[in-house]
Amino acid sequence: MDKGASNPRHIAIILDGNGRYAKKYGLLRQQGHKAGADNVEEMGDIFIAKGIEYMTVYAFSTENWKRSEDEVTYLMALMKRYLSKNKVDALRKGIRIRVIGDRSGLSEDLRRLIVSMEEDTKEMKKLNLTFAINYGGRDEILRASKKLAERAKEGLDLKTVDEAYFSSLLDTSDIPDPDLLIRTSGEERISNFLLWQIAYAEMYFTDKYWPEFTEEDLDLAIDSYRHRERRFGARKED
Ligand code: FPP
Repeated sequence: MDKGASNPRHIAIILDGNGRYAKKYGLLRQQGHKAGADNVEEMGDIFIAKGIEYMTVYAFSTENWKRSEDEVTYLMALMKRYLSKNKVDALRKGIRIRVIGDRSGLSEDLRRLIVSMEEDTKEMKKLNLTFAINYGGRDEILRASKKLAERAKEGLDLKTVDEAYFSSLLDTSDIPDPDLLIRTSGEERISNFLLWQIAYAEMYFTDKYWPEFTEEDLDLAIDSYRHRERRFGARKED
């Protein structure tokens, strides 16, 4: 039985607190997001150094469209810039980049950048870095359910559908479930992130704002994970 003594293989992160970080240091909100994006890059290097294979970050939720037009425009530009500028770096470092979420709501040029980044980095194996963009857990489950309904119409026998089959219809079909979910900046909510996939994930909350989250903070989260006993619903062995 896994007693949680090994390192997590997949860590998902809800990057919260960019705005509060900016306020704390008298910066613009946009500068907070820029610092947050820079920290995603730094954390990627740290994950590689620690041999953690999967990192999934919540970059833009289906609810984030409700923010001001200026902020949405800035966040979209930040993601475009990241995807157009970081290919050489990703290939050099061995990072495979994927995007989960409803792409139909994204601009044509962002969609094109995503496809090209995913295609060009698909052989990379050191780190699987996944960005959730226009992502909502309920939306993902609903889209998967619609695919299932389509397949049933085409003759799929629903009696054969199990959890593994349903998982294969999700955006994360080729990514293992997270072992650990980290949320920064003091909020203790899931906010519609990876609802299906975190069924057995350990949760770790910290007061640190995302741009200030460091390697030491990651070590604290991993230590806490390693000291928990993961039973996946089984009884504790005597
Ligand atoms: C939460 O902070 C953060 C977001 C909604 C966006 C996070 C996105 C990025 C850092 C950019 C994507 C990353 C890359 C590498 C392209 P908040 O604004 O909710 O902070 P607050 O709650 O303190 O206001």
